Amino acid sequence: MVTLTPAELEEIHAHLHNYMHTEEAQSMKGFCQHGAVSTYDHVMNVVRLSYYLNKRFRLGADMRSLVVGSFLHDFYLYDWHDNDGTHRLHGFTHPQRALSNASRLFALNEKEQAIIRQHMWPLTFRAIPSCRESMIVCLSDKISSAIETLFHRK
Ligand SMILES: [Fe+2]
Ligand SMILES: [Fe+2]
Repeated sequence: MVTLTPAELEEIHAHLHNYMHTEEAQSMKGFCQHGAVSTYDHVMNVVRLSYYLNKRFRLGADMRSLVVGSFLHDFYLYDWHDNDGTHRLHGFTHPQRALSNASRLFALNEKEQAIIRQHMWPLTFRAIPSCRESMIVCLSDKISSAIETLFHRK
């Protein structure tokens, strides 16, 4: 989606080291997000796009919180395409589910929590992005989702 240098990818990997190797994070590879794209691939797309926007446009966000929050923003850990009726308000409810899953496993700072809780705005109209990190992820998520849906159909 965006082109980053090996050093930039290395920096992202360093920020995510304590998160990406957990069993729960790896389980995102088994959930379908859009078309043929897994939730894991989707959150990594959002991580790279958020990193890219922050760096290239000098948006001044805290890079570590931005990367960690991006990685965990869809940490809801189920397949929302399962048609069993339990995921019917998925769009509205999954940020809270992602936040509680992530908070159980990791100590999140305020910015990381805001990113997860607010990434679906304006759908979740009261959860307005409250910091620049949250605004960047809210935007990156929409761009990534649109591209995944358009170009990566099954
Ligand atoms: Fe989401
Ligand atoms: Fe997302």
